[in-house]
Amino acid sequence: MSSNTDEDAVLVGVIGGSGLYHLDNLTFVRSVNPETPWGFPSSPITIAALPSGTQVAFLARHGQGHTFSPSAVPARANIAALKLLGVRVLLGFSAVGSLREDIPPGTFALPTQIIDRTKGVRPASFFEDTTVVAHAAFGDPFSRRLVRWLEGPITQALAEEGRGVKLVTEKCIVCMEGPQFSTRAESHMYRQWGGDLINMSVLPEAKLAREAEISYALIATVTDYDSWRPNTDAVTAAEVFKTLRANAETSRHVAGTILQELYAAALHGDILSEEAGSMQSSIMPRS
Ligand code: ADE
Repeated sequence: MSSNTDEDAVLVGVIGGSGLYHLDNLTFVRSVNPETPWGFPSSPITIAALPSGTQVAFLARHGQGHTFSPSAVPARANIAALKLLGVRVLLGFSAVGSLREDIPPGTFALPTQIIDRTKGVRPASFFEDTTVVAHAAFGDPFSRRLVRWLEGPITQALAEEGRGVKLVTEKCIVCMEGPQFSTRAESHMYRQWGGDLINMSVLPEAKLAREAEISYALIATVTDYDSWRPNTDAVTAAEVFKTLRANAETSRHVAGTILQELYAAALHGDILSEEAGSMQSSIMPRS
């Protein structure tokens, strides 16, 4: 895959999760639906302009009408299509459950670690079915520089919004297969393993972004307490939906506030320097 690196490229991309199917206050430029070697993305990608004219790309992870379950999201096509547009910095938004009392519904989080509990049914590499053997470094599954950069602007955007939404950082997210939610026993086990948050969508997105040398971070928006709390009902989809709309509004506010600054930081700062070229040392040499 080649990427565009000049200043006209759509450098910054956003993947919206459940409830987040568009961004606000952007001028629509065009909609594209590129066919990649891995098929079409979940939805056509909206290219939109910030007030400065800078273009960003927006993709609805589950499709515009929420037609793809987490296990069926065409993640390889999504990442490949964004890469083709020139995206090098990618923010994924996702509704998540909380495994910790001090991370209540409504909280925003920037996780730094992932525990993979997907079940091998999702194609998770661009190198499957090829003769190239590659092992991407994934010890730090999110772009450390990007996550560090995001903390300040997101905190400020949340404070400006004035709803009292807090941002927590340095959290570990469990990615489970679904579509059913966890049992109470599983939920307790994830807590013992050190999990703080749980969702069904951060993988293989994060793995594929790394293989595509895209700097990726997840903005996790907490909808529920999962199923570990004693004397409390286990999570249901209805409970998730209750918080989804408010979280999506706040996500739109955060995106609208930080994207311009993020673009400038990506263009002129060192956010991209960790991931760019990282796959060169991941390909196994042929003997
Ligand atoms: N997405 C939102 N809440 C979730 C939960 N409790 N488990 C898995 N995915 C989720």
